[in-house]
Amino acid sequence: MKTRTYSPTPVNLRRLAAALQRGELVAIPTETVYGLAANALDEKACRGIFTAKGRPAHDPLIVHVPDLDHAEKLAEFNDAARRLVRKFWPGPLTIVLPKKSCIPAIVTAGRDTVAIRSPAHPLTRRLLRLAKIPLAAPSANLFGYICPTTAAHVLDGLRGRIPAVLDGGPCKVGVESAILDLTDPKQPAILRPGAVTVRELEDFLQIKISGGIGKRHRAGKKPGMIAPGMLSQHYSPRTPLIVKAAWATLPANTAGVFLRRPSGRHAPNVHWLSQRGALSEIARNLYRVLRDVDSGGYQQIWLEAPPESSGGLATAINDRLRRAAAKR
Ligand code: TXA
Ligand code: MG
Repeated sequence: MKTRTYSPTPVNLRRLAAALQRGELVAIPTETVYGLAANALDEKACRGIFTAKGRPAHDPLIVHVPDLDHAEKLAEFNDAARRLVRKFWPGPLTIVLPKKSCIPAIVTAGRDTVAIRSPAHPLTRRLLRLAKIPLAAPSANLFGYICPTTAAHVLDGLRGRIPAVLDGGPCKVGVESAILDLTDPKQPAILRPGAVTVRELEDFLQIKISGGIGKRHRAGKKPGMIAPGMLSQHYSPRTPLIVKAAWATLPANTAGVFLRRPSGRHAPNVHWLSQRGALSEIARNLYRVLRDVDSGGYQQIWLEAPPESSGGLATAINDRLRRAAAKR
């Protein structure tokens, strides 16, 4: 299959909307990472996502919608969920709620809940409006590899496996959305930290949010059905990655990835995630730099982690780094 990259002209957007309506796959830009989209109401189309990514069938998909009205057609909303999405959508927050029957089982991997978000990227918002269908979309990478934050990254993994990529430029946030389980609004649980932080969610909802895999998930009705974004090894480069607080000297054949541009240590194996250490810039560059050093022929990667005490995005960044560094 030939994979075509589409620039975001009005004609191309209409073409891609029609392709999605016909049940084809399209890689789409979002503010977090690129997603591999299909009509969420079309079981066969959604099956294609799993095939193209090599994704196991037990790993459910996130459904993308233009707004709350569309989301209410797909899931049973409660008041807390409504208030939350009015505040944080469009944006990098996914919520998990009881699903309605129109969502095929393949999307939710057989669960009775569905994950939904309204992405902020203007092109994908336009595509959602034109296609008039909800779009199921996990990240547009081969299963287990680093998420794509440019159209070129999507091609690196999925060229020949999907027909189309919409080029919307580099993603602004750079790490995947926060996932909040609101199935029981009295016991919200964060399943994946993101750019919308637990602190912001707690302040807004005025309720304690349980972290990691909440009790309900650990003791879930069906064992093993925890959120797969929680798999301990995920998002990984092929080169062994070691996350460190700091280092004095860098061994040969090792890529050193600093949080900020180091002064006066410019060697070919020295890389950095930001100019001055801003967390938003670190998050935006993280997957690109990991991909770059992963294909640099190094024996290992040493990467400096942001102190957890920096708050904000540090939690999401460290969460991804822990998984990327986990032993296979
Ligand atoms: O920012 C993002 O969330 C991106 C863009 C494309 O929107 N999407 C993304 O999807 O990162 P990805 O590859 O992480 O896959 C969706 C994840 C699953 O692995 C799982 O952790 C969680 O969403 N998920 C989906 N449905 C769920 C459900 N019903 N219950 C719990 N977790 C669910
Ligand atoms: Mg993914």
